[in-house]
Amino acid sequence: MAAQGKLRLGVNIDHVATLRNARGSAWPDPLRAALLAEAAGADGITAHLREDRRHIRDADIVALKAGIGIPLNFECAATDEMHRIALATRPHAICLVPERREERTTEGGLDVAGDEARLAAYIAPLRDAGIRVSMFIGHDPRQIEASARIGAAVVELHTGLYSELHAEGRQDEAQAELEALRRAATHAHGLGLEVHAGHGLTFDNVAPVAAFPEVMELNIGHFLIGEAVFMGLGPAIEEMRRRMDAARVA
Ligand code: PXP
Repeated sequence: MAAQGKLRLGVNIDHVATLRNARGSAWPDPLRAALLAEAAGADGITAHLREDRRHIRDADIVALKAGIGIPLNFECAATDEMHRIALATRPHAICLVPERREERTTEGGLDVAGDEARLAAYIAPLRDAGIRVSMFIGHDPRQIEASARIGAAVVELHTGLYSELHAEGRQDEAQAELEALRRAATHAHGLGLEVHAGHGLTFDNVAPVAAFPEVMELNIGHFLIGEAVFMGLGPAIEEMRRRMDAARVA
C-alpha cells in the first residue's frame, strides 16, 4: 500500500555555513537562510554537524533550534559527542549518517546491519526523548530490515549514486539504481518505516524520486544553495517544490 500525504521538502543549509566559514566571517548566516527557506515553503531544515565542524557549528544548531518555526532535522554521526548534543538540543528529528573525515560529502549509507546492537542502544534514549530517528542507508534490504529491527522511525534512502549516474548521462545505470531505490522504498514502507530520500538531487533528477508514493520527504541542500547564487534561495526552493509536486501528481 502506498503512503499518503504531501511530499515534504527539507532544505539542508550546510553550505551556507561552508561559504561563511570560507572567509571566517559571520555571513552568510545559516539561520537567515533557514528563515528564508521557511518563508519559501520548506517543510523542515536539515543541518549536519560534522565531527570536524567544517560547515555547521554548535552555535548554528542552537540558533536554528531557537529561531526556526519548522522542524529541525539534526544530521550527525553516531558518536557519543553527537548523542549528548542531540539530547541537549532535542531536535524534531535526528538522521544518523556515516562520516569519514577525508570524505567531501556523505559517501554511502550507514551500516546498520553491521552495527545493530550498538545502534539500537544508541537510538533508544533519543526515541525516549521524543526525537524521530532516521537512518541514512543505501537500498540494501539488509540495511532496511536492520533499521526496522532496531526501532528507527525513518529511513532516508541515499540517492547519491543515482544522481551521479544521471549527471554523467549513464541513463541505463541511473534507471537501474532508481529501480533499486523504488524497491527499497516499498520494502521499507511495508516494514512500517517512514521513507525519506536525499543526496545529490537537482531540478533535473528530482522528479522520478519525488514520484515514489512511499517517499514522504526529500532532503536537498547543495544544489539549492548553489542555485541561490543565480536565482535566489527563495525562488530556487519554490521551483524545487513545484517540480516535486508536479512529479507527485503525475
Ligand atoms: N540527506 C543526507 C542524509 C545528507 O547527508 C545530505 C548531505 O549532507 C543530504 C541529504 C543533502 O544532499 P545534497 O546536499 O547533495 O542535496
